[in-house]
Amino acid sequence: MKVTIVGAGNVGASCAEYIAQKQIASKVVLLDIKEGFAEGKALDLFQTATTLGFNTSITGVTNDYSATAGSNVVVITSGVPRKPGMTREELIGINAGIVKKVSENILKYSPDSMIVVVSNPMDTMTYLALKATGLPKNRIIGMGGALDSSRFKTYLSLALDKPVNDIQGMVIGGHGDTTMIPLPRLASYNGAPVSQFLDKKNLDKVVSDTMVGGATLTKLLGTSAWYAPGASVSYLVDSILNDYKRMIPCSVLLEGEYELNDICIGVPCIIGANGVENIVDLKLNDDEMNLLRNSAEKVKEMNFSLSDIIE
Ligand code: 2OP
Repeated sequence: MKVTIVGAGNVGASCAEYIAQKQIASKVVLLDIKEGFAEGKALDLFQTATTLGFNTSITGVTNDYSATAGSNVVVITSGVPRKPGMTREELIGINAGIVKKVSENILKYSPDSMIVVVSNPMDTMTYLALKATGLPKNRIIGMGGALDSSRFKTYLSLALDKPVNDIQGMVIGGHGDTTMIPLPRLASYNGAPVSQFLDKKNLDKVVSDTMVGGATLTKLLGTSAWYAPGASVSYLVDSILNDYKRMIPCSVLLEGEYELNDICIGVPCIIGANGVENIVDLKLNDDEMNLLRNSAEKVKEMNFSLSDIIE
């Protein structure tokens, strides 16, 4: 199995690292527009193979899409990351042109690939990739919900002071500081509702910390995060290539599900060999549905600015 990662920056390199270390694919190709950059990252990563004990090959190329031919999955991380104080939404102008061009180039060489979108603003970039390529909706997957859910579970584990892998939880909605929707009602500590252990004040804090999870890191690091985004992508790619059919919140095209249409936004999906194989109906309550409607409105507003880039 072959995975191409477009963009060899921090997030792209972390994706490559986790996919290779876990031997999720036999080949990883890193592609970047900066001369020699992907080659350097790939070689450095590949030189860890003997000490870490993996056999996945990692190669890097400068803008040569022919090297990506026959990829089963292509991950788009290209574009500029946010700087402290910036919202993901402010990146739209620069990143839209890049994501459109990249998704068109990918399909020339990997016409059957699944595409995972990471570039921000992620829901709008997922919608753009879908419109620009005309691919069926099961093959374009925005990864934000996987990442946001991992942050939610981390903050829950810290608040509960319990092992993080005993925590289940999901974040739906847009991948933005004001659009994401952590779902504490459905979160559990090994099946027991977290509300049994955390009062409203603490739960509200977990929710708000989760929503600004990315911004907090951007402020600390001076650029946006990469370990958790890279790991979330590898988790998604693993579910596709191994047909695990994990339920992962992803940004996908909705056509009536959750009463929404013509929008890519985070909802729980079954992710397997056919990409998005199913959208799970969570039976949200009225408050949660209202949050999702508001989130969708904001994402749609952002999608309007794509009108001159997609016909
Ligand atoms: C984040 O939330 C990169 O959008 C990504 O960290």
